[in-house]
Amino acid sequence: MSNTTYVKNTNRKILITNALPYANGPLHLGHMVGFLQADIWARFQKLRGHKVTFVGGDDQHGTPIMLGAEKLGISPQELVDRIEQAHKESLDGFSIGFDNYTGTHHVENEEMAKAIYVKLRNAGHIDVRTIKQAYDEEKGMFLPDRYVKGTCPKCKAPDQYGDNCEVCGSTYETTDLIEPYSVLSGKPPIEKESEHYFFKVSEFEEMLTSWKDSGALQPEIANKLEEWFESGLIDWDISRDKPYWGFEIPDAPGKYFYVWLDAPIGYMASHKVHCDAAGDDWASYWEDDSETELYHFIGKDIVRFHTLFWPAMLKASGYRQPNGVFVHGFLTVDGAKMSKSRGTFVMAETYLKHLNAEYLRYYYAAKLSSNVVDMDLNLDDFAARVNSDLVGKMVNIASRCAGFIVKKFDGKLATASAAPELHQIIVDANDSIAQRYENREFSQAMREIMALADKANQFIDENKPWVLVKDETKLDQVQQVCTAGINAFRSLCIYLKPVLPKLVKEAEAFLNVDELKWSDLNAPLLDHQINKFKPLMTRIEKDSIDDMIEESKESLKATEAANTIDPDSPLGQDPISDEINFDDFAKIDLRVAEIVDAQHVKGADKLLQLTLDLGGETRNVFAGIKSAYQPEDLKGKLTVMVANLAPRKMRFGMSEGMVLAAGPGGSDLYILNPEDGAKPGMRVK
Ligand code: 2FM
Ligand code: ZN
Repeated sequence: MSNTTYVKNTNRKILITNALPYANGPLHLGHMVGFLQADIWARFQKLRGHKVTFVGGDDQHGTPIMLGAEKLGISPQELVDRIEQAHKESLDGFSIGFDNYTGTHHVENEEMAKAIYVKLRNAGHIDVRTIKQAYDEEKGMFLPDRYVKGTCPKCKAPDQYGDNCEVCGSTYETTDLIEPYSVLSGKPPIEKESEHYFFKVSEFEEMLTSWKDSGALQPEIANKLEEWFESGLIDWDISRDKPYWGFEIPDAPGKYFYVWLDAPIGYMASHKVHCDAAGDDWASYWEDDSETELYHFIGKDIVRFHTLFWPAMLKASGYRQPNGVFVHGFLTVDGAKMSKSRGTFVMAETYLKHLNAEYLRYYYAAKLSSNVVDMDLNLDDFAARVNSDLVGKMVNIASRCAGFIVKKFDGKLATASAAPELHQIIVDANDSIAQRYENREFSQAMREIMALADKANQFIDENKPWVLVKDETKLDQVQQVCTAGINAFRSLCIYLKPVLPKLVKEAEAFLNVDELKWSDLNAPLLDHQINKFKPLMTRIEKDSIDDMIEESKESLKATEAANTIDPDSPLGQDPISDEINFDDFAKIDLRVAEIVDAQHVKGADKLLQLTLDLGGETRNVFAGIKSAYQPEDLKGKLTVMVANLAPRKMRFGMSEGMVLAAGPGGSDLYILNPEDGAKPGMRVK
C-alpha cells in the first residue's frame, strides 16, 4: 500500500470519516490513534488546496447504552447527549477538525437507515428466519452471548462467557455452557424462538471481490477478505428484539435495527447534516463516484463491518463504493496492552489535563504508517522525541533567530536571505513529503521534515549570528542569516501544519502572515515585518507524565463500576485487566518438545508448520517464526511449548499448541531452547 497514490491533478473533493465511537464511555488514547490519523490526513489534504469534508459523530445505539442508562436512572437519550458533550470536548482538545459531528440517533440517520433497509428488502436481499436465543425471563429480554455466563463445558472453569472460555480458550455455543446464568438477573436463561432479519451478504461476493481488487484496501486486509470468501460468506443478522435502544424496523413491530446496521449509515447522515448547513451537494458524494472520493479510517477490530457488510449495503441500495478503507492497529503503552492497574489506560480528558495535545499529535505522527500494526506509546521515548524534535529542533530555529531580528532590526526581515540554497533544499523536499502524507506514511514524513530541521540548525550553527552581532560591520549578515533561519522555520511550519495546527497558528501570528498553505512554500518572506517571538512550545516534564499516570489509576477505579461491555462487538480496546493470578499461571502446561519436522506453509508470510514430539505424542503447530528461521535449521532442535492450549483452527489447518519465542521480532526472534539434558515431554517449571 505504501506506494499507492490517489493523487489526481485536479482539485479533489474528498469526504473522510473516522469510526464513530460508542456513546457508552469516555474517549481514551487508543481512540485517538484513529481520530488523529484521519485528522492529520484531512488537514494535509486541505492544506494542499483540495475540498475536504471530514465528518463524524457518536455511535449511539445498542444494548450497553440502554442498560448503562438504566443503571444511572436516566433515559438513553440523556446518556447519549451527555456522552456526546464529553466526546466533543475531548475531540476539540486534540484539535480534531470535524466539519460536522452528528450522532447516529439523529432523525436524519433514522430516515436514511430506514430508506436503505427498504431498498434492500424490496430488492430481495433480506431473509426472515426464526432463530433460538437465550432469553432472560425476569428481565424480559433476549441475551447477547456476552450477557450469558456459566461453567466452561471443556475445562469446567466457572463464570465464562457464552461464546468462549477465557481459561482454556475453547469456543462453543451458549447452549453448551454448564449451569448458565444471565449476567443481568443471575437467573438461568431459557431458550426462546424469535424471528430475525438477515441481510444476504453472500449475494454480493462477486462485487466485493472486484472492490477488494480495486486498491481500496491494504494488502493484509485484502488477504483477510480472501479468507472470508474461502470460508463462505454468511448472512448477517441485522435485527434485535425489543427492548432495544435503536430504530424500529419498518413494517416489523418490536424489531429494531442492530446497532451496526445504522452505525455506518451515520457517516452518510452526518455528511447530510453538513451539506444541508453548508449548501453542499450530498448526492455527488454518495450517488456517484466520478467527481468525489470517499475514505473511511477504522481500527482493525471492525474490518468485517466496513469491508463486507458496508460496501454490500451501499451497493444494494444504489450508492457508490469507498475509495479506501484505511485500517490502523491498536495502541499499546510501554509495550503492553493499556492497563488499568498500571495507569496506562489513559482517558483523553486526563491526558489533556496534564499535557499539550500537540505532543501526542506529533508522537503519533512520528510512529504512524500505512500498515495495520499496533502502535506503541513508549512514555520515555514520547518525552525524549518531542523534546528533541519539536522543542530542540523545530521551535529552536525560530527562537535562535527571532530575537536578533526584533531587537536589532525592529522586526524587519532582510531583503535577501543568506541561504537561498537552504531554502531550495527545503522546498525541493515538498513532493516527497507530500507523497508520504498522501500514502499515510506519516512517520517517514516526520523523519524527512526533522532532517530538514537539522539542516537549518546546522546552518545557524555554522553562521553563528550571536558572534557576528558583536561586530558592527557584520549586522547586515546577521539580518540575512536570521532571515534564512526564519524562512526555514516558516517552510517547516507548512510541512508540520497537518500535525501541529495550534503551534502553526501561533507561528503564523509571530510571522505576521495569513494562514499558511502548501503553495506558500515557493515565495520566501523577505523585507517583511514579524512580531515578537513567544516560546511556541515547552519541554515535556517527566512529572506531568507521572501525574497523568497516577490520575489514570485513580479515575479508572471510579469509572470501573459504571463500565459496560458491548456484547455485540469485538472487545477492541476496552480496558482488560492485564494481571493473571498464580492459579492462572499454574494452569499453563509448559513442556519440552522436539521439532521433528518443519515446513514452509504455502501462502503464509510469517508461519512455519512444525511437527513437535512431546515424548511420544505428536503435535502440529503453526508458529510465526519464519522471519527468523529456515525450516531446515529447526529440525532436531528442542524448544518449549504451551502444551495445553486449546487447538485453534487456522486458515492452514489446526494448530495444537504454541511454541515460545522471544526477541524484538523480524530476524531477531529466538525460540526458547531448554538446557542440554532436557527430554521431549518434560515439564518446564
Ligand atoms: O467499534 C466501535 O467503536 C463502533 N462504535 C464503530 C462504529 S464505526 C461506524 F460504522 F459507525
Ligand atoms: Zn474452558
